[in-house]
Amino acid sequence: MPLQNQKQLFSIPETVTYLNIASLSPSFKAIEEAGIRAIKEKSKPFLIPSSHFFDPVIEVKKLFAKLIEAPDYNRVVTIPSVSYGLGTVANNITLNKGDEVLVIEEQFPSNIYVWKRLVEKYDATLKVVKQPNSKLNGGKQWNTNILEAITDNTALVAMGNIHWANGTLFNLKAIREKTKKHNALLIIDGSQSLGALPFSVEDIQPDALICAGYKWLFGPYGSGYAYFSSYFDNGTPLEENWSNRLGSENLSGLTQYEDKYKPLANRYSVGESGNFIYIQMQIEALKQVIEWTPVAIQDYCKTISKDAVIELKKLGCHIENNEDRAHHLFGVELPKNVDKELLKAEFVKQNIFVSFRGNYIRISCHLYNTAEDFKKLSNGIASIMQTV
Ligand SMILES: Cc1ncc(COP(=O)(O)O)c(C=O)c1O
Repeated sequence: MPLQNQKQLFSIPETVTYLNIASLSPSFKAIEEAGIRAIKEKSKPFLIPSSHFFDPVIEVKKLFAKLIEAPDYNRVVTIPSVSYGLGTVANNITLNKGDEVLVIEEQFPSNIYVWKRLVEKYDATLKVVKQPNSKLNGGKQWNTNILEAITDNTALVAMGNIHWANGTLFNLKAIREKTKKHNALLIIDGSQSLGALPFSVEDIQPDALICAGYKWLFGPYGSGYAYFSSYFDNGTPLEENWSNRLGSENLSGLTQYEDKYKPLANRYSVGESGNFIYIQMQIEALKQVIEWTPVAIQDYCKTISKDAVIELKKLGCHIENNEDRAHHLFGVELPKNVDKELLKAEFVKQNIFVSFRGNYIRISCHLYNTAEDFKKLSNGIASIMQTV
């Protein structure tokens, strides 16, 4: 059965049209309550058992592993940011002079700066696959260009499942096949897709998958997740936290220093991963997303946005072909003569929240939104265009 609107679980006022989860998700009430409960627990630390440093984190890791269909939760760690996760990845990669690191045009900066630094270190090259100029089947052409750009010179491809500002879908399955053929690593930033678009580690087999937790996964700002494949099994973490060492649960034996890490990816967990408040919120968040399912969320977003997409296209806005873009996040490119500042003022007046990113108005929705929200959005844009 398709999912119904879930606004009753959130605290978004009727007067607000929130189409900006791609920036920051609203907590639903179970998350808020878990956070408040955890804050109160800290007032009585004598009641917090030492198992709290470990067991709830394992629960979060299991939930995230389930969401991404990763066979072993020991390949999943919690991280504070995407840049931390990508920093860990880059720290464990050696390039040869002349190697190429391939990225997508206008990729999110945390997934650019890290590679700039890496290619400088090894005298390698950052290769950017540009967005095609043509608006006709731009998404399809972009995917073709990406595949063509992967050659024997490619050491690594770092990209998202979708473009973070315009929602173009990238064919990770085909990209993975091509990277394997050329012995290149595939590092995925799932921040704008995991939770709202199905993703399977078993299917795509990325070398690493890094994801912000505070958007489609409803965690607090400062939460994130990483999956590391066997490529990283013997790597070096960015820091050496005590809790990542084997047997660290035995708190009275911590100064019997241990050389071995916990298995698989555990060495890459951020220090103080037990973060009592965040972890409690993350557990509630992930449980609910898994129950809703990304596939049903995607379907819901498609249903509520489809009429407005038709309207906006009629008004002369450019939106990528339906089948070549995501439905939970997509970019609307306005006709050149539309005054963006005027539109921003109109949105403020009407309490419509979206993101302006580069050339795009980035629209992002979830189960608290309705077709009515999209009507308000397209009417708002239409009203400005009439004044041109
Ligand atoms: C695609 C993408 N990656 C990563 C991030 C966040 O990066 P960081 O956690 O390094 O701040 C964002 C935030 O908007 C994003 O859109």
